[in-house]
Amino acid sequence: MIRNEVLSEVLARTEIEGLISGYVTLRRAGSNLSGLCPFHSEKTPSFTVFPATNSFYCFGCGAGGDPVTFVRRVENLDFEDAVEFLAKRAGITVLRDEGRRRADEPRFDRNRFYAMNRDAARFFHSSLFADTEDARAALAYFKTTRGLSDATIKHFGLGYAPNSFDALTNHLLKKGYTEKELVAAYLCGKSEKNGKLYDSFRNRVMFPIIDVTGNVIAFGGRVMDDSKPKYKNTSDTPVFKKSRHLFALNYARHTCAERLILCEGYMDVIALHVAGFTNAVATLGTAITAEQARIMSRYTKKVIITYDNDEAGQCASDRAIKLLEEVGVDVQLLRLSGAKDPDEYIRTFGKEGFAKVLDASRSKFEYSFERVLSAHNIAVPQERIKALMELCGIIAEIYSSAQREVYISEVGKRLQIEDLNSIRTEVERMQRRAVREKKKNEDQKIRQNTVGYGDRVNPDFAKDPGIARKEEAVLGLLMLYAEHRAVAFADPPLLTEEDFFTAFGRRVFAFIRDAELGDGFENASPDAVFTPEEVGRMMKMKLARMQLTENGEAVFRESAELLRLDVAERRDSETVSTVEDLAAFLERMRGK
Ligand code: UTP
Ligand code: MN
Repeated sequence: MIRNEVLSEVLARTEIEGLISGYVTLRRAGSNLSGLCPFHSEKTPSFTVFPATNSFYCFGCGAGGDPVTFVRRVENLDFEDAVEFLAKRAGITVLRDEGRRRADEPRFDRNRFYAMNRDAARFFHSSLFADTEDARAALAYFKTTRGLSDATIKHFGLGYAPNSFDALTNHLLKKGYTEKELVAAYLCGKSEKNGKLYDSFRNRVMFPIIDVTGNVIAFGGRVMDDSKPKYKNTSDTPVFKKSRHLFALNYARHTCAERLILCEGYMDVIALHVAGFTNAVATLGTAITAEQARIMSRYTKKVIITYDNDEAGQCASDRAIKLLEEVGVDVQLLRLSGAKDPDEYIRTFGKEGFAKVLDASRSKFEYSFERVLSAHNIAVPQERIKALMELCGIIAEIYSSAQREVYISEVGKRLQIEDLNSIRTEVERMQRRAVREKKKNEDQKIRQNTVGYGDRVNPDFAKDPGIARKEEAVLGLLMLYAEHRAVAFADPPLLTEEDFFTAFGRRVFAFIRDAELGDGFENASPDAVFTPEEVGRMMKMKLARMQLTENGEAVFRESAELLRLDVAERRDSETVSTVEDLAAFLERMRGK
């Protein structure tokens, strides 16, 4: 449980503009700021930050709320963790009252997990330098077999998990961690036979995985021979989701603003960093996920993919390209010939060799360009036109106009078309068409999400959008104006739950009322009760009213009255129909 005072202090000390600009590039637009929404992919900014009310809203996808809602969504945290995240950021200590958690909902203390993983990493690291034959073999594996220096071993915190079933377990139990914690952190397993704990990682060289704030959150452990599985990795734990972290991003984040190198293996990343390419990261033993793509887009403009030189690697690149393009980063592919992966490439051709291919690496456009040209015989006029159209379509998708110009003149040269203006016109036409289509799709999606079918936040909306809209107006007014709340919750109250049409509307109403009659609605956080999507919808209700000038008491009373009448009328007609059904039923019974 987060106490109210803590929450208000956290909110008071968090400026939404500063918070969000750590994730989104914001531009001033009057008294507000706007940028590209981090929660859906878009090319024109519809994400808006309102410093005056410490809130945000995306007019594209409907995400919205206060700093807590933002952190819940962007960091994928629950309410309490989000508050704690902001508190840490603002330098406030949160003492949690664990009392209210249900017993079937184990609650782990994140800080203890970070400490436990750090202790494990220290243990593995010092085990690497132990005076045993096993440890010497492990150290030799890193230094001789993989050619790493002491400095590199230290920099990445590499280690060795001893060939023992209880070395780490005993070490951590002695430090006071509980069995439950050790198992949940995946550092230990629990034997089904005798219920005893055992070390998860045994006789493996260890790679700690560190998050961007410097916490050790997981491990990858590699065998030192050819046995299988080659790597064993931490499964998801309360502080680790492999789908949303990248190996070495804690270092790469400082140097990757322009471009980031994405590879497959821990060892590739380490070799690249050693060679001076400190902007390299790797996914954690899985194919790239949409979340990882989104994370990369927050840190860089361009991702250079350099996957293994085998079929699996090439398939993986296709998927990576697709996901990265969806989040709007430039993607480039690096094909390495003469080596199976970047690690081997650098060993064979040196860092200069790698730098050379990096500079010569071609953009995805250049690949498509070659593909189109080789697919058509451009000596034949009709084929040439086909090739031209395809190329214009590809150029139309490029975001930067400077880059489009470069490619337009390139196309002119290759297809021997003197009049570049004709190409330009064609590209522009295709751009307009793409924008129209995109807009159409987006509108459709928004319509589906906000009114009617597929409305997951308020599934009742579609039953009667007319009434549902009136209800949203009343709720918007209630949230915006303390005066209206005073009128609505007077004794006797002007409005009760019964006066609302949708189940969601009734919940929102009850929340506003209970908060107002408690510590005051202004001091309550909807995030403690509602999902981030629901909070976004509440934000939308407020914004819809804020855009109107006439929001006085007369308007509020009238809206409330109309809503009440509509809801009552609908209820009556429903009752009548059940009465009729009942009559018909009785009739039938009599007939029998
Ligand atoms: P690779 O087999 O290409 O690993 O797998 P690598 O890093 O080049 O390993 P070396 O050079 O043989 O030491 C790429 C990545 O896939 C994951 C690991 O994250 C590895 O770094 N992986 C691989 C696993 O998780 N489990 C495995 O059994 C193999
Ligand atoms: Mn390798």
